[in-house]
Amino acid sequence: MNVVNVVPMPLSSVPPPRTTVPHRPVLTDEIVAAIQPRSGGVYVDATLGAGGHTIALLGAGAGHVIGIDRDRRALATAAERLDRLSPRVELRHARFSQLREELAALGIDSVDGVIADVGLSSMQLDVADRGMSFRREGPLDMRMDRDRGETAGELLERLTDDELTEVLLKLGEERRARRVARCVKQDLRTGRLETTMDLRRSVVRAVGPARVGGVDPATRTFQALRMAVNGELNELEQLMDAAAAVVVPGGVVAVISFHSLEDRIVKRKLRDDPLWQPLSKKPIVPGDQEVFENPRARSAKLRAAKRLARAEGEAER
Ligand SMILES: C[S@@+](CC[C@H](N)C(=O)[O-])C[C@H]1O[C@@H](n2cnc3c(N)ncnc32)[C@H](O)[C@@H]1O
Repeated sequence: MNVVNVVPMPLSSVPPPRTTVPHRPVLTDEIVAAIQPRSGGVYVDATLGAGGHTIALLGAGAGHVIGIDRDRRALATAAERLDRLSPRVELRHARFSQLREELAALGIDSVDGVIADVGLSSMQLDVADRGMSFRREGPLDMRMDRDRGETAGELLERLTDDELTEVLLKLGEERRARRVARCVKQDLRTGRLETTMDLRRSVVRAVGPARVGGVDPATRTFQALRMAVNGELNELEQLMDAAAAVVVPGGVVAVISFHSLEDRIVKRKLRDDPLWQPLSKKPIVPGDQEVFENPRARSAKLRAAKRLARAEGEAER
């Protein structure tokens, strides 16, 4: 494994670390236990976020961590927190679907482990100008990477009523998708839909204000649009393929997901590739204490698998 090109980030000019945690990582002990980092090992944190999992890996003895995030703000926050550890980290602004290319750019063709904690960080959800929250007035943006791609507003303009219905059904599992799509498109046409709160009002107009099981009526619509804007399922498929190509025999992939469609992708990719040996039959979920302390952890599922060596003469797929 070639690590000579892992150049430390010049982090010394950034301000000192904050005192509050910008995003509370989930299943941290479990992900470290799955990876079992070694001092000579190189690991990828494909969803760096605020760097919580990376800090835990380094704290548990990982030699180097390459942290990837498509969100520049997340990278800046993590850089600040990782300052002290900077000789052992390399931060990359990229989509994790580009994992192989990012490693190639560093002169690395294989790593000892890949972790991912897919979805949204608290930093993205809590900041109004990202447009990800139906609780805050913001632009209809929802992009994790604000340097590229279509915003939620542009996506809503482009999709037909039928296409929007499909997105809400598939990614949001919204039973009243057709009604929601019709109201949203109507409000767009009449100029009544410009912000996140407008979008929430459209959804409420379609399905009523009732909260089902304590869940806001706009939850499913916002989730579906965010996943569509960021191509989240496709990204995860590609990450799993890339991990299969770069993790060394004996190395581990460990993925935390929060959505049943994502968990299904991880489960299928690990099951269908005979060179992955799952570390547990069932996904690992947070204990009661973690959920109590961090309610956002409640739907997290961790699946991890070890890479097996290819048998002699077995063709590369
Ligand atoms: C749940 S947060 C990760 C939090 C992190 N584990 C921590 O301890 O702070 C998910 C992060 O992954 C990033 N992300 C999501 N999809 C991505 C993708 N396809 N490529 C790169 N980064 C992605 C998001 O921008 C976000 O910062």
